[in-house]
Amino acid sequence: MFGRVWAIARERGLGMESSPQIPSFDLKRNYARVEGEVREAIERVLASQQFIMGPEVSAFEKEAEAYLETPHAVTCASGTDALMLALMAAGIGQGDDVVTTPFTFFATASCITRLGARPVFADVEPGSYNISPALVGEAITKRTKAVIPAHLFGQLCRVEEIGPLLSGKGITLVEDCAQSFGAHRMFDGRIKRAGSWGEFGCFSFFPTKNLGAYGDAGMTICSGDSQAERLRRLRVHGAATTYIHEEIGINSRLDAIQAAILRVRLRHVETWVEERREAARIYGLLIDEEDLLEWVTPPAEEAGNRHTYHQYVVRARDRDGLQRFMEERGVTTRVYYPLALHLQPCFVSAGYKKGDMPVAERLTEEVLALPMFPEITHGEQEKVVAAMSEFYKGRHLT
Ligand SMILES: Cc1ncc(COP(=O)(O)O)c(C=O)c1O
Repeated sequence: MFGRVWAIARERGLGMESSPQIPSFDLKRNYARVEGEVREAIERVLASQQFIMGPEVSAFEKEAEAYLETPHAVTCASGTDALMLALMAAGIGQGDDVVTTPFTFFATASCITRLGARPVFADVEPGSYNISPALVGEAITKRTKAVIPAHLFGQLCRVEEIGPLLSGKGITLVEDCAQSFGAHRMFDGRIKRAGSWGEFGCFSFFPTKNLGAYGDAGMTICSGDSQAERLRRLRVHGAATTYIHEEIGINSRLDAIQAAILRVRLRHVETWVEERREAARIYGLLIDEEDLLEWVTPPAEEAGNRHTYHQYVVRARDRDGLQRFMEERGVTTRVYYPLALHLQPCFVSAGYKKGDMPVAERLTEEVLALPMFPEITHGEQEKVVAAMSEFYKGRHLT
C-alpha cells in the first residue's frame, strides 16, 4: 500500500510520523515554527505602547502591497469588514443588486444585505466550486451594481471571463480573496494575483487562513488612488482628519499587535503555500493509488491557476457516512458548506427556493474537507486516505 508515495516521502526526507487524532488543521505546529519571531514582534509593540494603527500597520500594508503587487493595501478588522468597506467605497446601497455565489462563507453575501442591497445568486461549477462566469452574465440586470466572486478554497475563479461582462455598465468587481492569499492566475501570458483583477480585492487574516493573524484581521486592496483614500477614511468613521467626518464610516482598524504578527508570517507564507500544494499533490497520488476515484473526486486545479489549497475539498459518495467513519478512525474532517446561501433562513426574503442553484445544492451534500495545513505529515495523509479506503472497501456503485 502507498508504495510510490512512501518512496517519494522518504526521498524528500519528509516526516512519516502520525498523531493519534488527525485534526483538520493544527495552528500549534505552525506557531512552533515562528514562535521566537512572533514573540519578538509582540514585544516591539508592547515597548512602543502604540496599539491601534501606527507604524506597524503602515509597514505591514507596504509589505503586503509589495507581495500582492498592488498600489494600495488598506487593512481593517476582519475579512467581513474588508468586503463591506469595498462595497461602501463602491457606493453600493439600497435598491442595488449584487451578484454573488451561493456556495461560499456567509460573509460574502451578508455584507451586501447589511448595506441594504440585494444579493442575486449565480450558481457555481462542479469542478472548481467557483462561480460560473456564464451564469454571472445571465444574472446581470440594470439594477446590478457589483459582482462578488469568491475564490473558494484557495483558487481563483475564471475571473477574466467576468470582467468583460461588467465593462461599460458601471458594475464594480469585488473579489472575495479571503481563502486565496498567495493564489494567482495566468492571463495573456501574465501572472495576476488574487485581488488584482477587480476594482477591489478583499482578504481575511482569520487565524486558519493561508496568511493568518492571531485574532481577527482583514485587508482590502485596490489600484485606484481615490478608492484607497475612501477606504482609509471609511475604516475610521469616515474621517480624513481627526474629528472631521466627511461621511459615515465604520470603526474597523487593524491593531498593531496583529500587524506585527502578520509581518512575521508574511515572510513565511510562500513556503507554507508550497507545503500546502505538496500535501495536495500527495493526497491526489494516494487517492489514485488506492483506486478511490470512483468514490471520491479530488479538487481540480483549473488550467492557469496556482491553487493554494486553503482547503483540500473532495466530493465523496455517502459523504456523511464517510465523515462519521473517518472520525471514528481518528481523522477530523469538515463540511464547507452544509447549506447554500440562497437557502439560508435569513435570505428567505430574496425569494429563492430549493432547486434554484442545483450545483451548489448538490455540493452541500457531497463536499468534504480533508485535513490540510502546511505541517501535515505524510504519515497523517496516509492515515486519512487509508480510512477512506477502508470505508469504501467491498462496496459497489449503485
Ligand atoms: C470566503 C470568505 N469570505 C469572507 C470571510 C470573512 O472573513 P472574516 O472571518 O475574517 O471576517 C471568510 C472567512 O471565514 C471567507 O472564508
